[in-house]
Amino acid sequence: MGQTVLEMIGIKKSFSGIYALSGIDFSLELGEVHALLGENGAGKSTLIKVLGGIYQPDCGAIKINGKEVNINGVPAAREAGIGIIHQEIVLVPYLTVAQNIFLGREITTKSGTVDFEKMNLKAAEMITSLGVDIHADSVVEKLTIAQQQMVEIVKAVSFNANIIVMDEPTSSLSNEEVKQLFEIVARLKEKKVSIIYISHRMEELFRISDRVTVIRDGEYVGTRNTSETNANELVAMMVGRNLESFYARNYSDLSKAETALEVKNLTCEGVFKNISFKVRKGEILGFSGLVGAGRSEIMEAIFGARKYQSGQVFLKGKEVKITEPMKAIKAGIAMVPEDRKKQGLILCNSVAFNTTLSCLHFCMNGIAISRKKCRDIIDYYAEKLRLKAASVNIDAGSLSGGNQQKVVLGKWLATKPEVLILDEPTRGVDVNAKFEIYSVINELAKDGMAIIMVSSELPEIINMCDNVCVIRGGEMAGYLSKDELGQEEIMKYAAGGIK
Ligand SMILES: Nc1ncnc2c1ncn2[C@@H]1O[C@H](COP(=O)(O)OP(=O)(O)OP(=O)(O)O)[C@@H](O)[C@H]1O
Ligand SMILES: [Mg+2]
Repeated sequence: MGQTVLEMIGIKKSFSGIYALSGIDFSLELGEVHALLGENGAGKSTLIKVLGGIYQPDCGAIKINGKEVNINGVPAAREAGIGIIHQEIVLVPYLTVAQNIFLGREITTKSGTVDFEKMNLKAAEMITSLGVDIHADSVVEKLTIAQQQMVEIVKAVSFNANIIVMDEPTSSLSNEEVKQLFEIVARLKEKKVSIIYISHRMEELFRISDRVTVIRDGEYVGTRNTSETNANELVAMMVGRNLESFYARNYSDLSKAETALEVKNLTCEGVFKNISFKVRKGEILGFSGLVGAGRSEIMEAIFGARKYQSGQVFLKGKEVKITEPMKAIKAGIAMVPEDRKKQGLILCNSVAFNTTLSCLHFCMNGIAISRKKCRDIIDYYAEKLRLKAASVNIDAGSLSGGNQQKVVLGKWLATKPEVLILDEPTRGVDVNAKFEIYSVINELAKDGMAIIMVSSELPEIINMCDNVCVIRGGEMAGYLSKDELGQEEIMKYAAGGIK
């Protein structure tokens, strides 16, 4: 073993009397990538926030290079060489990259004014040294999420951090962007920076980590050398049991099923072109393709959240003109968007409120809202999706990232739409919850709901869908039925092997 740069010993942290961490041990070696794994709500982000000085632990000790330190705030964490890229991006959107990097420690000229030129130069230097391709004077809100994350990394490095934490850095990145991130991780490793890496994507952990520590329900479960473990062992450690059947699809005969939604020649100039497909009642129609192929944009257009120039949309054979999401919802279409945080939750309201927000019509008793009906709906989805929340009355904002996503999903499922569009339904949720979400989707299809599932995860497309549309460069590159489905077939169409 090398040199230990960080030790967290017996860390406990509670919120209103409930333990989020009940005695976690964690250690980090010089220059290693140490993955932190655990289900949604296990306590990963909380542990990281303790390390970053955002939360004070109830007890426990933190040692850096063998010396106990008191991290009583964000500046103290910085001082100790800790840089954190949080699950939620915290850059100031309307400032430039350089301004964000130097926020609070702006470089000034002799006369005391901010020296923008020098800041841009310095920032550009740091950006290049990590091999990132971003302009220092770009305004942050104009950047993609991936680029914003890169800025966060540059910023962390600029404080001479020798411990960098990445909390789910890849949950909204494309494969290409993930590759870039991994190159940066490799560069940081070369510079002997130690990295704590949190992700629900198992294959990533195997690609870049040296060790994996698993926590469950706020408790330490164990640490393994990545080269000496496998996905099954880690999953079992995470959920406390073996997960057997993962995909729960009951296929039914769709030959006589009624068409629920039909799209003909939908075109949005410069974004997608001539998209035509049908989805029947009881069918799960997958949309596969590389990130950026235009899948989400097609769904937004159908849902009325994006304008299109030509084409038609039919619901049960009747043409509909959907110009805004409210009309889509009224017509029986629901969409769980890709960026659920931005588009789906009111963080300062309770979980219960959020869940029933779009389905109040199911909660009515005459003209009054029935608390019991509300409660039944909330309890049903909270249980179905294995929501981990102290109570459904707490603010959605205090849930862990993955659990917030479950609330958004529950909220839309509760509207019982005729057509349900799911954009990356399992992104950011843990394996156990994934399994639950698949079984909910399966049940909905069995009950006759038409479901469109946009997903970048090939296994979930292959194992859940009846048919799959493959989109490439905004066009329909292929249509595969479940008997033809395989990773290779899909990738061939997605990447342009055949057309
Ligand atoms: N500020 C807070 N107030 C109340 N409870 C909180 C707060 N922050 C976290 N929790 C609770 O602590 C537990 C652990 O949450 P945490 O965010 O650490 O989970 P996580 O492992 O990061 O999960 P995910 O994979 O979903 O991001 C959860 O039950 C969460 O609801
Ligand atoms: Mg988290």
